Amino acid sequence: MNLTDRVAVITGGAGGIGSALARRFVAEGAAAVVLADLDAEAVRAVAAEIGPVAHAVGLDVTDEEQVRALVEETERRYGRIDLFCANAGVATGGGVDAPDADWDRAWRVNVLAHVHTARAVLPAMLRRGSGHLLFTCSAAGLLTAVGDAPYTATKHAAVGFAEWLAVTYRDAGIRVSALCPQGVDTPMLADGLAAGHLGARVIAASGAVLTPDQVADATIAGLAEERFLILPHPEVAAYARRRAEDPDGWQAGLRKLVRRLRADRQ
Ligand SMILES: NC(=O)c1ccc[n+]([C@@H]2O[C@H](COP(=O)([O-])OP(=O)(O)OC[C@H]3O[C@@H](n4cnc5c(N)ncnc54)[C@H](O)[C@@H]3O)[C@@H](O)[C@H]2O)c1
Repeated sequence: MNLTDRVAVITGGAGGIGSALARRFVAEGAAAVVLADLDAEAVRAVAAEIGPVAHAVGLDVTDEEQVRALVEETERRYGRIDLFCANAGVATGGGVDAPDADWDRAWRVNVLAHVHTARAVLPAMLRRGSGHLLFTCSAAGLLTAVGDAPYTATKHAAVGFAEWLAVTYRDAGIRVSALCPQGVDTPMLADGLAAGHLGARVIAASGAVLTPDQVADATIAGLAEERFLILPHPEVAAYARRRAEDPDGWQAGLRKLVRRLRADRQ
C-alpha cells in the first residue's frame, strides 16, 4: 500500500504517534485522513493544523457504536476506507495488584477496540477485495513491559489478534500490520521517564527512543512492503528472536537489566 489518494482513519490521532502518522500520510498524498480521539478538542486542533484533507472526530474507541458510526460516516463522506489505523492505546502501569478497572480499561482500549474495528470495516473491505488494517501494538506485545502487567498482556493479545486476522483474511485481499515500536518520545513514555518509573527507564535503556516522525517513516516503509510486523526499532527483532530461541536466557538478561537500573537508583 502507498498512501497516494488513499482514505485513512487513525484513532488516537490527537498527538504522539497518531498525529505523526496523519501528517506523514498527508505528505504522501492521502485523499483524506480522519483523526479520531477521546480528546475531541486536541484532535480538532491537529486536524485544523493539517488542513482540509484532515477531518476530526471525538470518540471513545471502547464504545462499539461510536466505532461503527465513525466507519459508516467515513465511508459515506469519502466513499471507502483504504487504511484503518487502530492506534489509540493506554498504559495503566501496575502488576498483579493493579485494580480490575485498570485491567478492564487496558483490555477494552488495547484489544477489544481492535475487534470492534475489524467488525466495522471488514464487510466493505471484503466486498471490494482490498483494505489494510494497521494496529499499533508495541514491542511489549512481543517482549515484556517491565512494571506494567496489563499493558504486556493486552499488547500480546493485540499482536495475536492481528496475526489471526492476517492469516484469516489475507487471501481475501485484506492486509494486516502490527506496528510494534519500543520507546517513542510521546507523553506515554515521557511522563513515565519524568516520574522515574522503572518500566520507562528499562525501555530507554533497551534502545533508542525514537521520535513519532521516525515511527511514521518506518510505518510508511512497512506499509509499502505490506509487512505484517513493522518494527521501527530493528533491535526488537533481535530481542524477539533471542526470546523465541532461549526464553530463559532472555528473561535472565532482562532481570539483570532491571537489577542494574534499580541499583543505579540506590
Ligand atoms: N510511546 C511509546 O513509547 C509507545 C511504544 C510502543 C507502542 N506505543 C503505542 O502507540 C500508540 C499511540 O500512543 P502514543 O505513544 O502516541 O501515546 P499518546 O498517549 O500520545 O497517544 C494515545 C492516544 O490515544 C487516545 N486514547 C486513549 N484512550 C482512548 C479511547 N478510549 N478512545 C479514543 N482515543 C483514546 C489518547 O487520548 C491519546 O491521544 C498506543 O497504542 C501505544 O500503546 C507507544
